Amino acid sequence: MDVSDYSNELQAYLLGHGDDLLTHIIQFNELMMRYQAAIKEVSTKLEILKSDFQMRNQRSSIESIQSRIKKPASILKKLSSRGIEANLETIRTQLSDVAGIRVICPFIDDIYQVAEQLAIQDDIRVLRVKDYIQNPKPNGYRSYHMILEVPVFFMDNKELMQVEVQFRTVAMDFWASLEHQIKYKRDIPDAEELVRELKSCADIIAETDRKMLELRRRMEQQKGSETE
Ligand code: GTP
Ligand code: MG
Repeated sequence: MDVSDYSNELQAYLLGHGDDLLTHIIQFNELMMRYQAAIKEVSTKLEILKSDFQMRNQRSSIESIQSRIKKPASILKKLSSRGIEANLETIRTQLSDVAGIRVICPFIDDIYQVAEQLAIQDDIRVLRVKDYIQNPKPNGYRSYHMILEVPVFFMDNKELMQVEVQFRTVAMDFWASLEHQIKYKRDIPDAEELVRELKSCADIIAETDRKMLELRRRMEQQKGSETE
């Protein structure tokens, strides 16, 4: 087995599990299929909320829905960075972002509305919420994160699967995407200055988000008074 092409974490894993590697790969793929199914369940719920809102309000509360399954290398890296042995059990119990969905909304109030409408569905259990809109990260990152548990029915059982849902406005997504790209470019000489400027961009963007919401509300009020 030539493992030299793989990351350190993957190499260590492959060397430790060489004997029954095939069994492990099959079981791993089966688990990933289960996470993919959970993504489908939650994405469908979001699509339905989007259509319902559109019908009632003649505008969209969701701009786009993206999803991803965490890559095997990232799963191993995250577990090993926390000193946890990688196996099917630890993937399920220690990681909450194997299945990830990102919901991009036009306005800040859309985020809270859609998140609430998802959270109150009676088959969904909200395990954790991190509101980085009310409490932005020191670097300026803003988003609303929810860890959910959703039941998924398979051939012979029902499983509760965890899904991480990140809600952001278009503006917050714009900042997070570019910040992510910049972060991965290492050895930047004036890093401190860069961090400060990124934070300042995040604050300007947040202010714009607030203004856009206010503008929309003013327009709605005007429309409301015209039809009275
Ligand atoms: P992770 O170990 O990165 O998953 O962090 P965590 O377990 O503390 O969870 P948290 O809710 O803080 O972040 C989860 C995810 O949010 C990350 O995997 C990113 O997708 C996103 N995120 C968090 N902080 C940042 C940030 O500063 N910049 C960007 N671009 N994304 C972020
Ligand atoms: Mg993550």
